[in-house]
Amino acid sequence: MLPQLVRGSKVLLVTGSKSLEATGEFSRIIQGLESRGLQWRRTIIPGEPTPRLIDEAVEIHRNFSPSQIIAMGGGSVLDAGKAIAAMFCHDLGITNYLETVGTLQPRGETLPLIALPTTSGTGSEATKNAVISQPGPEGFKKSLRHDAYVPDIALLDPQLMLFCPRNTTLYSGLDAFTQLLEGLISTKANLFSNMTARKGLELFVNNFTGVLETPEDLHARGQIALAAYLSGVTLAHAGLGTVHGIAGTLGGLCNLPHGLICSRLIAPVFRYITEQTLNSEHLEELQWLGDLFAHSTFPVMEGGILGFKKALELLSALLPPLEVEFSEELIIKAANQSGDKNSPVSTTEKIRGKMISQAFSAFQI
Ligand SMILES: [Fe+2]
Repeated sequence: MLPQLVRGSKVLLVTGSKSLEATGEFSRIIQGLESRGLQWRRTIIPGEPTPRLIDEAVEIHRNFSPSQIIAMGGGSVLDAGKAIAAMFCHDLGITNYLETVGTLQPRGETLPLIALPTTSGTGSEATKNAVISQPGPEGFKKSLRHDAYVPDIALLDPQLMLFCPRNTTLYSGLDAFTQLLEGLISTKANLFSNMTARKGLELFVNNFTGVLETPEDLHARGQIALAAYLSGVTLAHAGLGTVHGIAGTLGGLCNLPHGLICSRLIAPVFRYITEQTLNSEHLEELQWLGDLFAHSTFPVMEGGILGFKKALELLSALLPPLEVEFSEELIIKAANQSGDKNSPVSTTEKIRGKMISQAFSAFQI
């Protein structure tokens, strides 16, 4: 199906470094493109996309002048594809257009983009922003954002996800769960985002253990892929909360993947949220989610808030041990520079520092 969707005759493929070749899917896709007489080039994104990687990819392929971008990979690759498609239509380097870093507004012009996720997590295939990372002490994670950057087509093919390693499945799935959960109780939530969040959470709760226990289960993979897609739709409409408010800053300061950071922050952040006074609407949403877990294959015996708290414990217990400890300086900096986004519960710098400490078992401020 993919070759028939291509616009023009020149395709720039944006992929990760190797996992696609292992599945044989990459050569199948190339054969399909060539059988239609399409020219193609490839650019590889080995990790989270940096401004330099994006600018170099555009410069190297400027003369090839692609008519179509196809991004196949995890969230980082899809974000890179989105940014590369846009930067082909801009004159200056991407840093000039990044939120709060650059001084220019990105324009809506962009090349047509097809997104093929190979993991189920960020929901980038449904969102209008590309997260660009500059690692290091003065590092940042900032978005290139425009309504026109939502991929023209998102192809969810669970076959592409069959060889996704367990830890990637775990971390990216929990990232999607966090996005759905933060969207569910966001102060910006509306009827539409509430519907997408609830449906995504149902798909997640009913299929996540299945996909971890039986990675070759195509049906479960497809359901989790849909949950991740809905998490992208939800966050595009309702925004995110404190987990992502911290994860964005922390991810810019250390070299850990986004999904891993979110996975570890869910429990301390939501433990704190459930200890605060919530309005009846937000309380009902979390009670509904607790009930959902109680009626699933998760060993949650009670519904409501107790069930929700138990589910947080069970999800945290899935995480492997982590051999990293943040310095006091890094935690203080991350807590200071982060925020709550659209969480209904606000936190102080000290509380966010404690959340980071608890998440990464370092120390108490
Ligand atoms: Fe996320």
